[in-house]
Amino acid sequence: MADSVVPTAYEPKNMKFRYLGNTGLQVSLFSLGGWLTYGNTQKGSIVKDILKAAWDHGIQTFDTAEVYANGASEVEMGRALKELGWPRDEYVLTAKVFFGTGRKEPNTRGLSRKHIVEGLKSSIARLQTPYVDVVFAHRPDPATPMLEIVEGFTQTIRNLNLAYYWGTSEWSAQQITQAIELAKQHNLIAPVVEQPQYNAFHRDRFEVEYAPLFEQHGYGTTIWSPLASGLLTGKYNDGIPEDSRFATNKAFFENTVKELKSEQGQAKLEKVRKLTKIADRLGATATHLSLAWAAKNPNVSTVILGATKIEQVLDNLKALDVIDKLTPEIMEEIEAVLDNKPKGVNTFGRDRQKLRGVLLEI
Ligand SMILES: NC(=O)c1ccc[n+]([C@@H]2O[C@H](COP(=O)([O-])OP(=O)(O)OC[C@H]3O[C@@H](n4cnc5c(N)ncnc54)[C@H](OP(=O)(O)O)[C@@H]3O)[C@@H](O)[C@H]2O)c1
Repeated sequence: MADSVVPTAYEPKNMKFRYLGNTGLQVSLFSLGGWLTYGNTQKGSIVKDILKAAWDHGIQTFDTAEVYANGASEVEMGRALKELGWPRDEYVLTAKVFFGTGRKEPNTRGLSRKHIVEGLKSSIARLQTPYVDVVFAHRPDPATPMLEIVEGFTQTIRNLNLAYYWGTSEWSAQQITQAIELAKQHNLIAPVVEQPQYNAFHRDRFEVEYAPLFEQHGYGTTIWSPLASGLLTGKYNDGIPEDSRFATNKAFFENTVKELKSEQGQAKLEKVRKLTKIADRLGATATHLSLAWAAKNPNVSTVILGATKIEQVLDNLKALDVIDKLTPEIMEEIEAVLDNKPKGVNTFGRDRQKLRGVLLEI
């Protein structure tokens, strides 16, 4: 067969891929986002260098939001993406509207049809790209009628070609279900993916409240803070390192740092120490173990990494080799350390997943 005439830049290396929920879009199991990093503590060539390192090691999905550094994150990532010059169809770019960019005018934030469209247009301009692949509603907007929200996102996709899919971030299952049902009733486009916080210390909503969304709608997820902002790396076990997130974003993490000194916070750090011991036996670290633990959940489409340094990206991607080492026995050991497994919804003996298992065994 003749060589392709279309130049290709992307090499998947040992990356794994998942479909974004029930869509045909494939995302790298690990992706990279720009919260508190690009346009904030990291500006200029370092941003490009980190993105390049991620891409060179198989990451093809990138996440931003209008609110990150009040638009500067998109500017930095957009410039880096332009300079890197990757074919647009080889990477997946996700954006989020809701919080605005710090302006005070009433229509420069929220989920009115006006801000959905204008916010996304501004994001795309800052990102220097003709479209994003997925646009998220960064939070629910109880002040805007749900039908207007669904219409607004449908318009960005169907009429304006500004995005291919839309999703939700930190919406309740009830709000997501309402949006999906309204889309069906009015021949509009339904959201397909949620961007929730999910990590070993933050599980309930993902594992319990969202379970019916995964079961009934095949809803996808792009999960955030998989390392609980770095807590799960063990870097905060003995205090706050000078160049770490809790120090460089002091005001934002004031309460987190306070909580770390409390009994509850100390108990979390003790859990990290214990996870480190389990990881040791697997030839890994608490960082790898925590990321692999999140990635192992089949309802996770992609784990969004955050990184201020190239080395962090490279270190975090070692989690890819740990996923298969998380046997049921190891998962049980981790569960015993975490001691925070959410209680599932009472199914009164009518658990569909289990029933499927039984039928398969027959
Ligand atoms: N939808 C939402 O509401 C929402 C909210 C938050 C985030 N997000 C998205 O999710 C992405 C990831 O969230 P996150 O940044 O909080 O993820 P995270 O993985 O929990 O934290 C990332 C931070 O931890 C530190 N770190 C990462 N790897 C490390 C390593 N190997 N060793 C030591 N330190 C390491 C770095 O900070 P330092 O070097 O500064 O310590 C890094 O910036 C964001 O960029 C954003 O795209 C979405």
